[in-house]
Parts: sequence; C-alpha cells; structure tokens
Amino acid sequence: MKIGILTSGGDCPGLNAVIRGVVIKGNTMFEDEFIGFKDGWRGVIEKDYMTLPRRRVRGIGRIGGTILGTSRSNPFADGEDGAEIVRQNMDDMDMDALIAIGGDGTLFTANRLFEAGIPIVGVPKTVDNDLDATDYTFGFNTAVEIATESLDRLRMTGDSHHRCMVGEVMGRSVGWIALHSGMAAGAHVICLPEFPLSLDDICHYVQAAFNRGRAPLVVVAEGFVPKDAPEGFMDYELDEFGRPRFGGIAEALAPLIEERLGIETRATVLGHIQRGGEPTAYDRVLATRLGTTALDLVHKGGFGRMVALRGTEIVDVPLSEAIDSLKKVPESRWREAEVLFG
Ligand code: F6P
Repeated sequence: MKIGILTSGGDCPGLNAVIRGVVIKGNTMFEDEFIGFKDGWRGVIEKDYMTLPRRRVRGIGRIGGTILGTSRSNPFADGEDGAEIVRQNMDDMDMDALIAIGGDGTLFTANRLFEAGIPIVGVPKTVDNDLDATDYTFGFNTAVEIATESLDRLRMTGDSHHRCMVGEVMGRSVGWIALHSGMAAGAHVICLPEFPLSLDDICHYVQAAFNRGRAPLVVVAEGFVPKDAPEGFMDYELDEFGRPRFGGIAEALAPLIEERLGIETRATVLGHIQRGGEPTAYDRVLATRLGTTALDLVHKGGFGRMVALRGTEIVDVPLSEAIDSLKKVPESRWREAEVLFG
C-alpha cells in the first residue's frame, strides 16, 4: 500500500516513535511505501512531503518533536472543500490511505474527511491527556516527568528562601499534568480547571504549610481561574482559532498570595519546556505500539477509527468517539489529592 503520514496540532514527545513504528512494521510485514506530509494538513493540501524509506526513521524513536513538522492548519478553513482537495491529491499521488497523528482538532478533521470518503486512521496525541477515548496519550508521561523535576527544583530554592513558589504547568481545560506532577512533587495545593478553588482556599493551604515550617508549593494548571475571580481576571489573547493563548495565571496569583499573607512569593511558568525534549521510555513504548497497531488498522481497512490504550491493551475505537468528550480529572482523583493539601 502507499500510505501518507502526518503530524498535526501542538507537538508532543513520542510523535517520531509513532512514525518509526508505522514505517518499520510496513517494511518488515508488508511491502508498504510511505509518504510523510510536512507541517500537518498544510503538507497534504499543498502536496509538500518527503518520502519515508526505512533509513529515514533510523534512531528517531528516542527524539522529541516531529521530523515531519507540524502546524495547526485546517483543510476546511476559509470555506475550503478540504475533502475534495485531499481526495484529489491522494489520487494524483496514487495513495491508498492516510494516518493522522494529532489531538482533538486533528481527529475532528480526520473524522470529517472520513465521512467524506477519505480512507483515514487516527493516532491520538496530546501532552494534556484530555482525550476521553484513550486511557493515556503519549507525551503526557514525559510532560509530567519534566514538570515534576522542575517543581522539585522550585521546592529546593523555595526552601532556602522560605518563600512560596507557584509553578504553572500545561493543561487547557483539564488538570492532568498539574494533578500528577503536583502529587509527585508533594505540592501543598494544586489548582485544576475542573475544581476551581477560591483565592481564600489557596491562601488557607499556603498559610497552613508555612506555619508548619514548609516553603509552600502551589501547582496551577494554565487553564485554572479562581472561583471568586472577577470577570476578566485573566485577559488572554486569542490564537488564530479563537482559543485563548494561556500562560500567566501563576504570575497573576503570586502577588495576590504575597499581598494577603505577607509571604514572599515567586511564580514560574514552565510553558513549552514541557513539550520539548526526549520522550520517556513509557511514551516511546506507547507511541511505538500505537504506530504499529495503526498500520494493522489500515491493512484491515479499519478507516474512520483511531487506535487507543485501554488498560494495557491497544484497541481501536471510532474517530467519532474520540472527539466526543474531554477526559476531565474525575472527582475521586481530586478527593485523593485534596487530603494532602496544606
Ligand atoms: O494542547 C496542548 C497544548 O500544549 C496546551 O496545553 C497549550 O495550551 C497549547 O498546546 C499551546 O499551544 P501552542 O504551542 O500553539 O502555543
């Protein structure tokens, strides 16, 4: 078969491991030929691609980022008939199928293309871990490791100065990175978008930790807003898709904590540091398994479906299920964490 691969949306450690898994299996088990489209849907629309012989994927499984490049471009933007262009380009290039590796936006587009008759299979990715149809997405484990290491460092300097440290991690609508890295680093309070605390709640936990002689550590997900915040508390710019460009909630909270409690407080925004660098062993293995299973799905004709992790097994589910709902932190996980605050 002749198969196109693309990576789309925000990058994520493990993308290269998926590409490598697909290409190696296609070479050893089938006689597949692979095309790598550059910068997500842009490459598909503009027929900008590279060939992917086996030698091109040599050693890439342990490297972060994506050798194909990525973008947040959308084939249906500006009223374009994306499906028609994709179909035409695939015909011109004699292609049999597409494998789209991406988050909710990419999988939504993939489903739309499938509904218009394009043979396409999805592979989920996102550091935020917010896709409901899979237990974990690759990239999440790496982001949590990086965040935890950074929070450990913040605790160390905070201890020396008897300061409160506020660390901001990624997580637009869900607080998985904050929950896991915050628990691992022993945070004194974790602020998630799903369970908004008030400024009073946060200060209560900070003061309690300080009173016990600890340098309080506050971990906050970028999408968090205090429940008592006034309208327009965080005035984010919008990106080209009209989504808020997060970043800065830690810097907004730190002076408020300092003002209320008189405890010297500093803020650190980890930002894209969490998305760069090498994937952890866990993410390399998960990404490789998703890649090889996605290729099987293509050969079985399982179009309109996406590979997913359920327990320890890789399964496949309809793309429509993948875009149905966000995987939020459930109340049970919040309660587990909450008892450790203060
Ligand atoms: O969706 C993943 C994510 O990393 C979010 O956590 C973050 O808000 C966003 O992407 C950042 O996007 P960009 O790289 O386009 O600034």
